[in-house]
Amino acid sequence: MRVLVTGGAGFIGSTFLLRTLDRCPGASMTCLDALTYAANPATVTELARQPRIDLAHGDLVDFAFVDDTVRRLRPDLVVHIAAETHVDRSIQDPLRFVRSNVDGTLSLLEAVRRHCPSARFHHVSTDEVFGALGDLGAFAEDARYNPGNPYSATKAASDHLVRAYVNTHRLRATITHASNTYGPRQYPEKLIPLMLTRALEGSPLPVYGTGMQVRDWLHVDDHADAIWAVIERGEIGESYNVGSGNEHTNLDLVRALCRAIADATGRDLASLEGLITHVADRPGHDHRYALATEKIRRVCGFSPRVELHAGLSATVRWYLANPDWVSRAKTADFGRWLEAQYAARLAPEAA
Ligand code: TYD
Repeated sequence: MRVLVTGGAGFIGSTFLLRTLDRCPGASMTCLDALTYAANPATVTELARQPRIDLAHGDLVDFAFVDDTVRRLRPDLVVHIAAETHVDRSIQDPLRFVRSNVDGTLSLLEAVRRHCPSARFHHVSTDEVFGALGDLGAFAEDARYNPGNPYSATKAASDHLVRAYVNTHRLRATITHASNTYGPRQYPEKLIPLMLTRALEGSPLPVYGTGMQVRDWLHVDDHADAIWAVIERGEIGESYNVGSGNEHTNLDLVRALCRAIADATGRDLASLEGLITHVADRPGHDHRYALATEKIRRVCGFSPRVELHAGLSATVRWYLANPDWVSRAKTADFGRWLEAQYAARLAPEAA
């Protein structure tokens, strides 16, 4: 089996590639990746050590490159994970999100239609396409799309393109909508690795607004396994929610993370929690995301396995055990991002 994974050098993509290597001893895999800031060189080296993984370095927006790669490989399975994913960056640079997430998805769909129209195609999407919820309820797969920020709007558009190719060209595609994913190899701009790496260096932990927003936290191994379950047992043209039922306010989550860090390092819990700093909120901050996950359980037999506290402590241990990975994530570019995103928010006069 020939498998093409877009975004394979990123967080979810690399986890999916490494788990699929173990799962499918006969598969040869290609990681198509633009190697943007989100691809840590240490992750790329880890993938390059695997004899059954090849790297196709290029941008999905470059149609000639995508067309040539897909024509050359003629994959049996295409797993589309590549995307710009950080909401805060989408607020600052929405054009880049439209290019990568919308134009990039269209390039891939068109190349697959031309060169391997019967390939199995899986598109990785997000719970955020449904927009925000109040304190009660959960979205099922047929909920109305109502994206609330530029990132989720581009993911919604890419989902629509995938469905249009299923309907128009009989593409054999499925979609997953997953909740907030965490675990090893996640770039430290997202809540958990940001707070974790900052807590370890004793820097303030910037919680937006009240910290009462609620997210459902899914371990990346569970996310990767859910994608595989849908590829194996999902019905063509259908979408599947992937959640864990681990709903927490941001403040509680950051406190749980501080506890996991204190347990792993022997540091004082009160001092770690003392780093928590409420800062100016994200504009248009979605209050809560939650998913009904009965469909993936019933049709694909998938249930998440990683309990949140066990997952948090394993994540803390991974970051502690991989200082090289962490230091290679802290590039000059990352420093500029922290400055632009947090310096004014954390300045004493902002308090
Ligand atoms: P994030 O990891 O960016 O994921 P998403 O916005 O896609 O859910 O953020 C998770 C939650 O944490 C979200 O409610 C925003 C909040 N948050 C903070 O409070 N401070 C931060 O510095 C970041 C990055 C996020």
